Amino acid sequence: MPIKFPFVKKRKNEVSSHHPVGLNHKQIPKHVAIIMDGNGRWAKNRGMPRIAGHKEGMEVVKKIVRFASDLGVEVLTLYAFSTENWKRPRNEVEFLMKLPVDFLNTYLPELIEKNVRVQTIGDFDVLPPHTKKAVQEAIERTKDNDGLILNFALNYGSRFEMVNAVKQIAAKVERGELDTEEIDEALFSSELYTCDLVEPDLLIRTSGEQRLSNFLLWQLAYAEFWFTEVYWPDFTENHFEKALYDYQNRKRRYGGV
Ligand code: IPE
Ligand code: IPE
Ligand code: MG
Repeated sequence: MPIKFPFVKKRKNEVSSHHPVGLNHKQIPKHVAIIMDGNGRWAKNRGMPRIAGHKEGMEVVKKIVRFASDLGVEVLTLYAFSTENWKRPRNEVEFLMKLPVDFLNTYLPELIEKNVRVQTIGDFDVLPPHTKKAVQEAIERTKDNDGLILNFALNYGSRFEMVNAVKQIAAKVERGELDTEEIDEALFSSELYTCDLVEPDLLIRTSGEQRLSNFLLWQLAYAEFWFTEVYWPDFTENHFEKALYDYQNRKRRYGGV
């Protein structure tokens, strides 16, 4: 059930004019990554099929994108489908692959209007054609926007990503373009899907699970983690605000003192 915070009042989804109590607007994390979890359990609790949870979850994505954009977050990475999620029942996988199409059908104009730039990380090539088409169109039509980067992790797996990076680097060494001695952290990072993005400052996971589930294993090395019991369809701007507030009250030491 949603956690209630003392300073948070119930309000409508549109919060553009709202300034959260206590949040320092000069210290908004640049990159927030979210593992949007708990859609299935949310639906089950209501006697509904799992896909009803995914549909509701999509509405929450819209709200949080609006809110993050208004707060001045630079990158919002959303874990939408993992390389392991193909194991799910076929009808659920099909529904999840249709979600980006529905999402962009109804929301692309607002994304364009809000100067949001859509990107993806993950193994894009093997997605169904209709999914690819919708996402590619959104990427193309928002490519010149310089506001929030809305980065969907779609068919994303961190281990797959890193193994691919190793292959790319090995191939360069084989071709004689690179010396083994030149391989360093920066070079490795440059072979990841996230090569053009700043590293995540804050990771949020909903639904009470406290694990990474193969998400951004390399990139999250020094991110702050924030967990909530709330299922993704119940996640609100208030929770996001609280996560940012807590983030701002952490001491990031990066191994120093
Ligand atoms: C997260 O919700 C959405 C995706 C993985 C696509 P889940 O579908 O994992 O919901 P639970 O964890 O089963 O409740
Ligand atoms: C992680 O959630 C993937 C997404 C949110 C897209 P899962 O529900 O698939 O992860 P596990 O199975 O609980 O680890
Ligand atoms: Mg889950």
